[in-house]
Amino acid sequence: MDKIIIYGGEKLKGEVRISGSKNAALPIIASSLLTEGWNILHNIPALADITTIKKLLVSLGVQIEGDSPLRINASNITNCEASYDLVKTMRASILVLGPLVARMGRARVSLPGGCAIGARPVNLHLKALKDMGAKIDLRDGYIEAEASKLKGAKIYFDIATVTGTENIMMAATLAEGTTLLENAACEPEVVNLADVLNHMGAKIYGAGTTMIEIEGVESLHPVEDTIMPDRIEAGTYMIAAGLTGGDVKIMECEPAHLDALINKLNEAGMDITILDGGLRVAGGEKIISVDIKTLPYPGFPTDLQAQIVALMALGNGISVVRETVFENRFMHVNELMRMGADIIVEGNSAIVRGVPMLRGAPVMATDLRASASLILAGLVACGKTELSRVYHIDRGYECIEKKLSSLGARIERVRG
Ligand code: EPZ
Repeated sequence: MDKIIIYGGEKLKGEVRISGSKNAALPIIASSLLTEGWNILHNIPALADITTIKKLLVSLGVQIEGDSPLRINASNITNCEASYDLVKTMRASILVLGPLVARMGRARVSLPGGCAIGARPVNLHLKALKDMGAKIDLRDGYIEAEASKLKGAKIYFDIATVTGTENIMMAATLAEGTTLLENAACEPEVVNLADVLNHMGAKIYGAGTTMIEIEGVESLHPVEDTIMPDRIEAGTYMIAAGLTGGDVKIMECEPAHLDALINKLNEAGMDITILDGGLRVAGGEKIISVDIKTLPYPGFPTDLQAQIVALMALGNGISVVRETVFENRFMHVNELMRMGADIIVEGNSAIVRGVPMLRGAPVMATDLRASASLILAGLVACGKTELSRVYHIDRGYECIEKKLSSLGARIERVRG
């Protein structure tokens, strides 16, 4: 298994380009199932999760060509089953459920098991499909869904689920009548998907707000479109710049997607300037400890919680970090403590008492964003940090060691 080795202490300097968003690309790739003909998608990131969803679509009979631009032709879907082998490696495979039921009238998708950060049920996805007239059975660990024609419905999400909103929005594009999603997720990735679906001929109104209306249409046509930049990757590099006391230009990102983080990093003493097509981040004299509470967009993103805990580990006081989205998203804490961090987890809060320095150590990645947190800590720790199970990081960060090396970090991947 590969490892990533970091020798800490370098201030990051220079310019880094942000890749396309994993969490926008996944639903947009799935949406091609709704069309016949060639879709062409630009700014697709080179990530393990993208490879997984491409494999999944090929298993359904979809033609796939290239990486970015990615060409997808779903004219001949020959299989409506998403197997456990593929779904277990990526829960976002659930995103083929809505499009398959809408286009083919049926789907058999493995229930995504739990994952490191929480149980992550899909009950809200299934309840919504039932509200639209689908017959849903759970058998042998699979979701079996059938609907000769989905019907528009008024759907209320108990929780503003991101992929739930995306799944049902896709399903509703070909339903008979109008669907109203209430308490819908407002994430920018939902808006990117809605824009692509509307380019395909869908009639979606209100994406980006908690109320989304979808008027069903007869069919959708393929498009050529572009994936938005990855706001979580951008935020991760912003924190890296501040943590190392560096000065970095983070380009081809969308600062408007990062208001909650920009607000917190300014509070923490960092200097952030909005540029044309990106932003510049410089570390402050010291890292000021601030409190953070994760919330659905536009609140502070749960996907940047592990990374900002690494920043607060070197704060000048005490920071309380509350995780309100997932029930078990502090697994980076034990590994950070092995590097000398002083953190106590109580329920859904981490109390981070800043320490003057961290020390490099062998650490283990447990999930995608926890591994980013450990890399950030390694950049600033004294000595050598050795990160194992780097397959987690490869799911969501394109060429992270190359991008960090280009900013002056002493980081390398050792093939295992
Ligand atoms: C998406 O996951 C993202 N993944 C996650 O990013 C992100 O952390 C999450 O949204 C929250 O922003 C993709 O977009 C592919 P949710 P998703 O449904 O849609 C509960 C990363 O690191 N819930 O918004 O699965 C759920 O348990 C990943 O890139 C139900 O109870 O998250 C959680 O507590 C990690 N029933 C809360 O809602 C449901 O049917 C929010 O989950 C659905 C969700």
